[in-house]
Amino acid sequence: MSEPARGRAAGKVILLGEHAVVYGRPALAAGLARGVVAEVRRGAGPALVSERPELGADERPARAVAEAAALLGLDPTTIVVTVRSALPAGAGLGSSAALVVAVLRALAAAAGRRLALADELTLGRRLETIFHGHPSGVDPAAAALGPVCFRFVSGEPPAVTRLTLAAPLPLVLGFGDRPRSTAAAVGGLRARWAAEPARHERLFDEIAAIVEAGVQAAEAGDLAALGRAFDANQAVLAALGVSSAETEALIAAARRAGALGAKLTGGGGGGAVVVVAPEPARVAAALARAGARTLAVTVGPRGEEVAA
Ligand code: PMV
Repeated sequence: MSEPARGRAAGKVILLGEHAVVYGRPALAAGLARGVVAEVRRGAGPALVSERPELGADERPARAVAEAAALLGLDPTTIVVTVRSALPAGAGLGSSAALVVAVLRALAAAAGRRLALADELTLGRRLETIFHGHPSGVDPAAAALGPVCFRFVSGEPPAVTRLTLAAPLPLVLGFGDRPRSTAAAVGGLRARWAAEPARHERLFDEIAAIVEAGVQAAEAGDLAALGRAFDANQAVLAALGVSSAETEALIAAARRAGALGAKLTGGGGGGAVVVVAPEPARVAAALARAGARTLAVTVGPRGEEVAA
């Protein structure tokens, strides 16, 4: 292999529809400009080297490397992958999916191949099961698509529609300190769904309608309507039991600071929130006062992230 072979993939933010998307409902998500870069070298493997201790903190990323190599017909025992991530881990920005897709791309390059998007989505979702049991595939889709806003419905292959936005979406993301586990949130909801399927299916249908309204609002550049969709989605996520006191406190702080809408993003449980914020600096300051790290992101008209 020509050394090192390199692959890159994007982080993501789920705007609407997390959790229900695992049950076949649509979601609205955006890939971010920042992401993960993976480089493949020959060495004693399978091994994953990262300057970020949290990425090597458990065995799952190295397992992803081994399984990805095997899927691509490479001998895992000769593969060493180095990753650099611009995504805060555990923050709900899809760092594990970005890692998986970056590794797949680097390994494919090492094998002298280029994967089709459909293969990246299928293999990415399969590898994401290492990180949590029932992935919808929305995270690897964002990782593979890059900075673009899209509607997503799970499946093999998934239905992905890239959106063209009439106006940029000014968002602020907030991350609390509490460690969050997507696997625990998804698994807990699955147990509650199994105990009370009809109630949960109804709530998932409510989310589906909210997502469709949000897609229309985003396409039309109607920030007030998009904000209402965020608030409505948050109410249903709370009813599903995936919100937390910390998340609710951040959402209340954002709303007091003039947010048009605010909700948890990703698996929930911890304190990752996404806010529609026409005045991003004001909302970011309020979230920081409430104890969160913040990131302002503008999803541009064709989905690019531009500096906020
Ligand atoms: O916690 P995150 O950022 O990996 O997002 C998970 C999103 C879920 O809808 C809860 C799960 C999934 O696979 O779609």
